[in-house]
Amino acid sequence: MGTPEDLIVQASQRRRTFAIISHPDAGKTTLTEKFLLYSGQISQAGAVKARSGGRAAVSDWMAMEQQRGISITSTVLQFSYRDHVINLLDTPGHRDFSEDTYRVLSAVDAAVMVLDVAKGIEPQTLKLFEVCRTREVPIITFLNKLDRPGLDPLEVLDQIESKIGVRPTPITWPVGIPGDFRGVIDRRSGNFIRFSRTAHGAQEALEEEIDPTAASHQEGENWKQAVDGVSLLDEVGATYDKKSFLAGQSSPVFVGSALTNFGVRHLLDAIVDLAPAPSDRHDLDGNLRPIESEFSGFVFKIQANMDPSHRDHLAFVRVCSGKFQRGMGVTHAESGRILSTKYATSVFGSDRDTVEEAFPGDVVGLVNSNELRIGDTLYVGDRVEFPPIPTFVPELFALARARDTGRFKQFRKGIEQLEKEGVVQVLFDPSGDPTPMVAAIGEMQFDVFSHRMHFEFGAEVELTRTSHKVARRTDQATASELGGLGGVRVRVRRDGTLLALFESPYWLARLQNDHPTWKLDDLIA
Ligand code: G4P
Repeated sequence: MGTPEDLIVQASQRRRTFAIISHPDAGKTTLTEKFLLYSGQISQAGAVKARSGGRAAVSDWMAMEQQRGISITSTVLQFSYRDHVINLLDTPGHRDFSEDTYRVLSAVDAAVMVLDVAKGIEPQTLKLFEVCRTREVPIITFLNKLDRPGLDPLEVLDQIESKIGVRPTPITWPVGIPGDFRGVIDRRSGNFIRFSRTAHGAQEALEEEIDPTAASHQEGENWKQAVDGVSLLDEVGATYDKKSFLAGQSSPVFVGSALTNFGVRHLLDAIVDLAPAPSDRHDLDGNLRPIESEFSGFVFKIQANMDPSHRDHLAFVRVCSGKFQRGMGVTHAESGRILSTKYATSVFGSDRDTVEEAFPGDVVGLVNSNELRIGDTLYVGDRVEFPPIPTFVPELFALARARDTGRFKQFRKGIEQLEKEGVVQVLFDPSGDPTPMVAAIGEMQFDVFSHRMHFEFGAEVELTRTSHKVARRTDQATASELGGLGGVRVRVRRDGTLLALFESPYWLARLQNDHPTWKLDDLIA
């Protein structure tokens, strides 16, 4: 038995907290399900998706998500694998929700980037990956769908490097021609890992490790081509490098097929062996909060009404240090108030199980802690405040009015809640017009906003788009300068942040050029 601090350190070292980022259809859902299969959470793949109303591998609680086949909300899966506790945080796989992805990435220690080998990196989802690089999260890449014809994997590596700016360093490399994927060379051992399918990929794929000489006999030309590919990678120095991986500059690459389970185990092993465990976290002043100190955590997501029968308000808290115990009083750094944690829950889709304790890397849901906002810190003992989670400057703007003026109360309540959740940003005119302006990064945020206003808050909204195309964060001095100019509007967020909205990006560029001292920032802290 060690001290309580030792136990916290040990528990932290056994944890891996990561998110999967991918473009829609790349195979995130399939892969997630296969993780559950390989970790023994489910005994047969295919069952999870089919069972309606029960646990689902996707966070599909919202009708809109089902209709559109995308995941808008994020939930958290926890499972054990090789004596480790794995926390998998879901991210919405669509660029319109890249801000949600960014928030989730602030709460993980690593990300798995899933790419469809037939598509490579698609322009519309590049933003999601850029977000990942901006946060400097270590990224493990999974090149998926090798079981069917696709691009040359070397071509996809080129795209990763040129478009995202992360150097790919393959650890496994495919053996076999497109459509006849036989297995992989594991560059660590030089051996051939031959995979065999099971019916419908419902069970783990059979794996056989074969030395290079035998592999050459058995696979002939396929093996030769794969070895040539690996030699090329050796020549250009595309070899795993721990330091640059942890700094988010290079990415170990695994190849496989989530559908047939080929390569799924390698990927899970990499999450345990390569991805970092939770570690001390920097606070607002740049000091490190040791992982073994008393409990601290921060809110990275707020979600209300996840389950229509609950009508609750849930704050997702990533534990950063210490041991969380349900019922403990925690201080809310921003207000100084003590909050009760009696109703702490896990956050698996719409399922709620009480959580008794949690360790660094884990995510706890706090129910009905209405004063919590995204980025807020909770702690016990020595005061700590973690840095806020930056928000993006919006790109789309619309004036929001209640269709039925008799429902103004519901309208106001809905706007306040959805603003708090970060569904849209809400901007006000400091000089008078009371009509709130909603602002977003992507069109679908407006759709979610309107849908939820109508169905959750009973307030139908009418959105009138404005002609603004770009926004920048500004300060009072610059705002006064901008006040008299045409083509610019200054609006303020509830938290006091000033935003300058421009009708033309060229106008903005010109002003920035002519007035280099004006404050016009493009990420909002
Ligand atoms: P997403 O969550 O990233 O949006 O992707 P999802 O897992 O839902 O996968 C999208 C489609 O790609 C699914 O087909 C899925 O079966 C298929 N897929 C996933 N991984 C692989 C793979 O390794 N190889 C091949 N060939 N296909 C793969 P679907 O027809 O849209 O859905 P379904 O009817 O099969 O469920």
